[in-house]
Amino acid sequence: TPNDDFCPGLTRKAMGAERAPQSQPCTLRLLVLIPILLSLAASQDWKAERSQDPFEKCMQDPDYEQLLKVVTWGLNRTLKPQRVIVVGAGVAGLVAAKVLSDAGHKVTVLEADNRIGGRIFTYRDQNTGWIGELGAMRMPGSHRILHKLCQRLGLNLTKFTQYDKNTWTEVHQVKLRNYVVEKVPEKLGYALRPQEKGQSPEDIYQMALNQALKDLKALGCRKAMKKFERHTLLEYLLGEGNLSRPAVQLLGDVMSEDGFFYLSFAEALRAHSCLSDRLQYSRIVGGWDLLPRALLSSLSGLVLLNAPVVAMTQGPHDVHVQIDTSPPERNLKVLKADMVLLTASGPAVKRIAFSPPLPRHMQEALRRLHYVPATKVFLSFRRPFWREEHIEGGHSNTDRPSRMIFYPQPREGALLLASYTWSDAAAAFAGLSREEALRLALDDVAALHGPLVRQLWDGTGVVKRWAEDPHSQGGFVVQPPALWQTEKDYWRVPYGRIYFAGEHTAYPHGWVETAVKSALRAAIKINSRKGPASDTEGQGHVHGVAGSPSHDLAKEEGSHPAAQGQFSLQHTTHTRTLY
Ligand SMILES: Cc1cc2nc3c(=O)[nH]c(=O)nc-3n(C[C@H](O)[C@H](O)[C@H](O)COP(=O)(O)OP(=O)(O)OC[C@H]3O[C@@H](n4cnc5c(N)ncnc54)[C@H](O)[C@@H]3O)c2cc1C
Ligand SMILES: *[C@@H]1O[C@H](CO)[C@@H](O)[C@H](O)[C@H]1NC(C)=O
Ligand SMILES: *[C@@H]1O[C@H](CO)[C@@H](O)[C@H](O)[C@H]1NC(C)=O
Ligand SMILES: *[C@@H]1O[C@H](CO)[C@@H](O)[C@H](O)[C@H]1NC(C)=O
Repeated sequence: TPNDDFCPGLTRKAMGAERAPQSQPCTLRLLVLIPILLSLAASQDWKAERSQDPFEKCMQDPDYEQLLKVVTWGLNRTLKPQRVIVVGAGVAGLVAAKVLSDAGHKVTVLEADNRIGGRIFTYRDQNTGWIGELGAMRMPGSHRILHKLCQRLGLNLTKFTQYDKNTWTEVHQVKLRNYVVEKVPEKLGYALRPQEKGQSPEDIYQMALNQALKDLKALGCRKAMKKFERHTLLEYLLGEGNLSRPAVQLLGDVMSEDGFFYLSFAEALRAHSCLSDRLQYSRIVGGWDLLPRALLSSLSGLVLLNAPVVAMTQGPHDVHVQIDTSPPERNLKVLKADMVLLTASGPAVKRIAFSPPLPRHMQEALRRLHYVPATKVFLSFRRPFWREEHIEGGHSNTDRPSRMIFYPQPREGALLLASYTWSDAAAAFAGLSREEALRLALDDVAALHGPLVRQLWDGTGVVKRWAEDPHSQGGFVVQPPALWQTEKDYWRVPYGRIYFAGEHTAYPHGWVETAVKSALRAAIKINSRKGPASDTEGQGHVHGVAGSPSHDLAKEEGSHPAAQGQFSLQHTTHTRTLY
């Protein structure tokens, strides 16, 4: 059931006791050396502890271990290879394409953009070589499926420093180091109640969750979550959470919980399970875009860039997928497939013409998807001045427009994530020119670190507003309280030959691993589908494209003779990635 499908990271305990990434075979081997009785006892303790924690129970995906197996061993090899078109070369599309093609299916990936990766997007500064993650940047240790995927692809992970005690919080013109905020948040000027004083912001949040914990115990996971879906986080914190208004304001300002204030409490709970300064995080050495790249180079099949899908027609034997080639031609190319996997975001799916149309419940579910904006502003400095303040990563918080500043770790250069805003806070940067956005972020960095930083800025920077991205048209999904209590598993059921995956189709929204899980689920379904196999045997599984002589990459875009089509074609088995 969808409500059981959480991030398996949160428990109040897990957040306190930082978890190490779980894919550590060495540790496992060491454990074997420990006397068996001891380890048995320990594992039973651990199990008992877990099963007693209702949050943890709610958080588990019932199929998590199965998905982990698929990511480790792959799908069973198919006896009936199908022609599968995957729409979208984000992480969901690429993972599905890889496991399906490994299982023997003929997979073609169609991507609207001129690059792969979607919301995994690494900016690389040509002059300095420094990188900035415009999209995903961290994975919690609990995301074992994603860890396993990275391991299988030979990607190296390293620590992402989420918390550094020497970072700052500045609100109401009061600026304190975060190790002080942890101990005496009332110093920031919030008129806290006596029992709220002297507690870290995280502990205050946990205090408020006590009632939710009782609900989970009393009602059980599904009923409690249904109840939580009906309320906003703000209602909950002030009502059942019994926090004072100043305490709620503190959580909003300091922990950016205000992004969830008017959204569903259930969503806030799921998000918090993966997003807390007390969790351990990793990142991909060399940049997150190595993940989509590694998927691309390990997959046999075609990936077409600049190939936006605009229409889909299902017939009794196959699906016809239309892609729009760029002007001036604007002739639609039609590709045929036995099955289609749609991984584009909600707004992008809404622009596709389906024939026959999507059933009403799916159209409604699509319209109900609530995307929040997310904006990042990077500024490039001549040196990592934060090191002089003994900051080696983590983030500062401010009530100024920039809200959250993330620092590169030592030896990672001086490209500063000067502002990361999402939900309502992202409005501060909406509509600004690039220069205005950079200036605004610089002002806030200067307010926190002193006017000297203006001289250290090298004048360059990057702004990424995901709500304005023509292909994702939003940052990620966070649902408001639901009008109807019918959040069924719409996305897990195919519509004829059309399957769905992507960040918006599973929980917790807004994570890479979620997109991966949804992709694996869809791939399992496609691989085990019974029914007529392809009736058009032979080569050229994608009509009109597979025979094209072009095998060039995006860099040669525009220099193509028109006859070769407007999109770039990648024979991933023959060519290295270049984009
Ligand atoms: C600012 C930001 C920070 C984030 N930080 C993290 C983080 O730290 N950790 C984490 O785990 N997650 C993070 N996330 C979430 C994570 O990036 C996403 O959940 C995940 O990348 C989504 O993958 P996807 O494949 O579902 O969708 P996408 O990556 O959006 O892929 C969909 C693809 O479909 C393509 N497409 C759209 N329409 C069409 C069409 N008509 N035809 C063909 N192709 C089409 C798009 O161009 C895109 O490439 C963050 C997201 C944002 C925006
Ligand atoms: C693979 O096949 C075996 C034996 O038929 C079956 O038990 C298993 O569930 C299959 N695995 C997947 C991922 O479908
Ligand atoms: C991972 O690290 C090893 C050892 O340092 C190195 O040989 C390898 O090239 C790295 N792989 C990637 C993808 O960075
Ligand atoms: C809520 O907090 C107030 C103030 O601390 C306290 O007096 C009251 O008993 C609390 N209510 C509940 C239901 O816990």
